[in-house]
Amino acid sequence: MNARILIVCSEAVPLVKTGGLADVITSLARALRRRGLDATVMMPGYPAALDQARNLEEAGVLADLPGGPGRLLSGTMPEHDVPVLLLCTPGFARRTGNPYVDECGQEFADNAQCFGTLAHAVVAVCGGATALAPPHVVHANDWHAGLVPALLRLKRIGEIGTLFTIHNLAFQGNFPLDCAAGLGIPPAMLGPDGLEFWGRLSFLKAGIRYADCISTVSHSYAAEILTPRFGHGMDGLLNERKRDLLAIRNGVDTDTWNPAGDALIARPFSPTDMRGKSVCKRELQALFNLPPDPFAPILAVGSRITHQKMADVAQASLPTVLQRYPRAQLIVLGCGDHAYEQGFARLAQDFPGRVAAHIGYDEKRAHALHAGADMLLHGSRFEPFGLTPLYSMRYGTIPIASRVGGIIDTIADARLSGPPPQGASGILFDGEDADSMTTAVSRAFALYENPGEWHAMQRNAMSADFSWSQPAEQYAAAYRGIAAQAVKELFAVRPEAPEVDIPAYKTA
Ligand code: ADP
Ligand code: GLC
Repeated sequence: MNARILIVCSEAVPLVKTGGLADVITSLARALRRRGLDATVMMPGYPAALDQARNLEEAGVLADLPGGPGRLLSGTMPEHDVPVLLLCTPGFARRTGNPYVDECGQEFADNAQCFGTLAHAVVAVCGGATALAPPHVVHANDWHAGLVPALLRLKRIGEIGTLFTIHNLAFQGNFPLDCAAGLGIPPAMLGPDGLEFWGRLSFLKAGIRYADCISTVSHSYAAEILTPRFGHGMDGLLNERKRDLLAIRNGVDTDTWNPAGDALIARPFSPTDMRGKSVCKRELQALFNLPPDPFAPILAVGSRITHQKMADVAQASLPTVLQRYPRAQLIVLGCGDHAYEQGFARLAQDFPGRVAAHIGYDEKRAHALHAGADMLLHGSRFEPFGLTPLYSMRYGTIPIASRVGGIIDTIADARLSGPPPQGASGILFDGEDADSMTTAVSRAFALYENPGEWHAMQRNAMSADFSWSQPAEQYAAAYRGIAAQAVKELFAVRPEAPEVDIPAYKTA
């Protein structure tokens, strides 16, 4: 028998993605399966997920869910055969675009009911209400799955261990307290030592409060969230649970983000043969209708365009950068808050032929951007991990990033003056003001002028190891720690096997 882990989340590549969470879920599931652990992803049956999942078949009808009956379909992810359970409800069926907000950026009114329903469906699977074998451990991710540990506790399903991973403390799933009755949460659980958070019902707090163990995605962020500055109001509770808080960094899917074998880029390249990067640069300029100048340093911005990602600060800093460096080009790929999106569109109008912005979500363009740009500007007010700068580093695109969270653990700082220390792979800056950002970008342009230093940094960036080996073993150890005594030995990891060699979950 293999250890069964049910990874509960709201997004997973390639089915649905709005951010790094989706990348992490699928690559973690693959990494665990390669090591002999039977990881299954359970998530909403959004239309895009139903379109792409393979081998779908009915795994059960769940009658007693808050939003009415739901169907559970089992299948596999395309390409990788990671098993997936999709919960189909009318609410999830309506989510044809972004799963959380409507076209105007407003949160859907039924978010509490939809994600509460997901948690109830997980509990039904755990309680044996379907023909599926219940998991030994449930790994719930972010607020969307936050009710799972609370409901398992409520239903006294104690033999299944629960790990709750915080990918972003800023997204909390806080709703009016009067949702509770409809979600099957009794008044006894609604006090300040339960799910209540500033007069609201918090899904995130439910996960933190009731999971056996909590984790987050970098060591620095794990320390930061214990402080009022980064705790988003949860620092008190997190301090109470400090002994159960783990830091397990994310990994990078080195098959998908691989300059030597990336089918989405113009020409492959590697640290020992960088000729392809110049071709990718030319193609990037063509894709964004910028002049094909091989000597123009290209600064990229590629992320959610939000307050977290310092879109406001970037828009205050970049006009100065563009005036100071008349040859530089700026390429923006992203979407998010409409006001900030418009800010970047205006910047493109103000600097024709030098700035291009694609407002939207586009996986192919993201690969072209990382491969073809010289530098990536990645400001963050807080950054639990930060996959984007690591993707850019894989392609020798040097990150200029805020010294917060996972960035501190992953990018070796070249510092703002003097020769870059050995091993430097990026440039870090402090603070949230335009001047600090401009200074850091200027430092990057200065280093770019010195090919010896620049190429050394590129080599460091491209050879940094952020594979899943270590984190997959740490997750396995965490699962083992919370699993029932009788099944602990199932969580011993096997040596990595090239592809899935365990059958998808079996029926009980
Ligand atoms: P976060 O999860 O906070 O958004 P990460 O950097 O960890 O930050 O992950 C973001 C992920 O989303 C990366 O895979 C990045 O390439 C991707 N991404 C963000 N915006 C876009 C976009 N507009 N088009 C394509 N990919 C995007
Ligand atoms: C979140 C964080 C990001 C992290 C990602 C995956 O969205 O903002 O820093 O990399 O989750 O854990």
